[in-house]
Amino acid sequence: MGSRSFMLALIVPILTISFITTAVANFYQDFDITWGDGRAKILNNGKLLTLSLDKASGSGFQSKNEYLFAKIDMQLKLVPGNSAGTVTAYYLSSQGPTHDEIDYEFLGNLSGDPYILHTNVFTQGKGNREQQFYLWFDPTADFHTYSILWNPQRIIFSVDGTPIREFKNSESIGVPYPKNQPMRIYSSLWNADDWATRGGLVKTDWTQAPFTASYQNFGSDACVWSSGSSSCNSSTWLNEELDAAEQERLQWVQKNYMIYNYCTDSKRFPQGFPPECTNSA
Ligand SMILES: *[C@@H]1O[C@H](CO)[C@@H](O)[C@H](O)[C@H]1NC(C)=O
Ligand SMILES: *[C@@H]1O[C@H](CO)[C@@H](O)[C@H](O)[C@H]1NC(C)=O
Repeated sequence: MGSRSFMLALIVPILTISFITTAVANFYQDFDITWGDGRAKILNNGKLLTLSLDKASGSGFQSKNEYLFAKIDMQLKLVPGNSAGTVTAYYLSSQGPTHDEIDYEFLGNLSGDPYILHTNVFTQGKGNREQQFYLWFDPTADFHTYSILWNPQRIIFSVDGTPIREFKNSESIGVPYPKNQPMRIYSSLWNADDWATRGGLVKTDWTQAPFTASYQNFGSDACVWSSGSSSCNSSTWLNEELDAAEQERLQWVQKNYMIYNYCTDSKRFPQGFPPECTNSA
């Protein structure tokens, strides 16, 4: 019911649809470099962005816009070679103690050992909803597309168009859902060798620094938040859900590539799993 009245609030802006295909993504237009003292760079007339990390500092950027619901794609090429100890984060987040957040984190590894793709969803300041995956390709050899669909009914994480995780709106069973707080896109590359690789056993090898991750082809179909209201360029994705073929792909990933799921970690939840676990794919 809550989400229905919220949808009504969206209808007016949706009527002013101006469907936009950004011909060439431009990092100057959409993002600001926020930290790293020159370690983050926008290159090739705005078509490429690189983050780097050395012993003194990592680096990061954020979107100029805030969004209330979005469908966003970004191509990332992760730190190659010995990336153990490094973490590349790419996420949506709102502000404050009861913030919402939708996270991708890429945990580096020794050359030839697999990255972990770590995901989490925070609602009203509460996370603890980790799912982790190996990838079915080497994420350092080339650019791959990491997408987030965030609409009033669901959050879908996809890699190269294959859904890997769905977080459904479970407000009907008492689980808060992100739908009132606008979020910004953030990304950063930093040192997390106290936990990232094999749980912190493998440390960052600083002789390999600087470590570099690259970004290109940002695309968005989003509701941009401005002075207290949100306006959407296209509305079809606001009701998007997984079709049968996508459900099958999701099952395939979860069966073959998922290495951790909080919803099956019975040691962690001896009193019973969080309620949304009964409502997840
Ligand atoms: C790194 O490689 C080891 C050995 O294959 C594996 O257990 C671990 O999950 C990999 N990823 C990370 C981030 O530790
Ligand atoms: C939506 O369209 C407006 C008007 O053309 C444009 O300024 C804005 O950047 C677009 N927003 C997104 C998220 O594509």
